[in-house]
Amino acid sequence: MGMAESGEPIIELRNIIKRFGSVEALTGVSMTVRRGEVLGLLGDNGAGKSTLVKTLAGVHAPSSGEIWVNGTRRDPWNPAAARNAGIETVFQDRALSPQHSIVSNVFMGREITNAFGLINVKKQIDEANRLMREIGFTSKVFNPNSIVGNLSGGERQGVAIARALYNKADVIVLDEPTTALSLTETQKVFRFVEAVKSSGRTVIFIGHNIYHVWDISDRFFVIDRGREAFEGAKSDFQGADHLIHMMRELAETGHADAGSYRPSAPGAVQ
Ligand SMILES: Nc1ncnc2c1ncn2[C@@H]1O[C@H](COP(=O)(O)OP(=O)(O)OP(=O)(O)O)[C@@H](O)[C@H]1O
Ligand SMILES: [Mg+2]
Repeated sequence: MGMAESGEPIIELRNIIKRFGSVEALTGVSMTVRRGEVLGLLGDNGAGKSTLVKTLAGVHAPSSGEIWVNGTRRDPWNPAAARNAGIETVFQDRALSPQHSIVSNVFMGREITNAFGLINVKKQIDEANRLMREIGFTSKVFNPNSIVGNLSGGERQGVAIARALYNKADVIVLDEPTTALSLTETQKVFRFVEAVKSSGRTVIFIGHNIYHVWDISDRFFVIDRGREAFEGAKSDFQGADHLIHMMRELAETGHADAGSYRPSAPGAVQ
């Protein structure tokens, strides 16, 4: 990581259009991602959230639009370029390998080797221990040789996040990391996200439970049918219910007005 200030723009997507055949999944989205923030990305099913972050990760080439990193336009943009720029994505559909250990999952494809090209087992275990501690993986029984398939859902997300950190991520994208998880497991993932943020890195968090996304995020970016609907810092909203009100209005009318929210006073007669 550089010496850059927290809060400064680190990635800018400018007017991104993405077509799949005749489907325009993104119709011109501009989004700024800032250093050290948790950005909550919200929107209905099919709104274009995954398409947007896959474009950010270089998995999809935009049909048009520009990607800027640290003030420089990056072209060409592909998975290697995104990785070099420090962007790591934890996709639900690119899962860990459950029959392998934590260590082999963290280092899969990027093993630490010695001069003879052999895997340096001790170094990998030390590094895995360090990474898991860094994200607040505190279980007393934690062992880097544990089989991932025996871990809880939240812990598995921790392994995926540790792998992203090992790959020198500055920006970690989590596409629905808590969708299949219980509240306890969700809390574990939140702890990992907090630890990543405390280290000065950025997290983009996609989720369907708006209360969860509200709790963990500093800023929100809402997309609707491939376009930006609205965005704002947490302080721009009066609470999670305000955000939910706007999203409901968006679903019903196609646009949302921040001023139409009237919180009911505690104890007020409805
Ligand atoms: N590889 C693809 N080929 C064709 N169409 C696609 C492809 N990926 C996404 N789409 C379409 O683009 C639109 C946006 O999909 P996307 O997966 O980005 O939505 P999403 O906001 O992530 O939804 P969800 O909340 O259900 O995950 C949808 O209409 C989807 O069918
Ligand atoms: Mg999605």
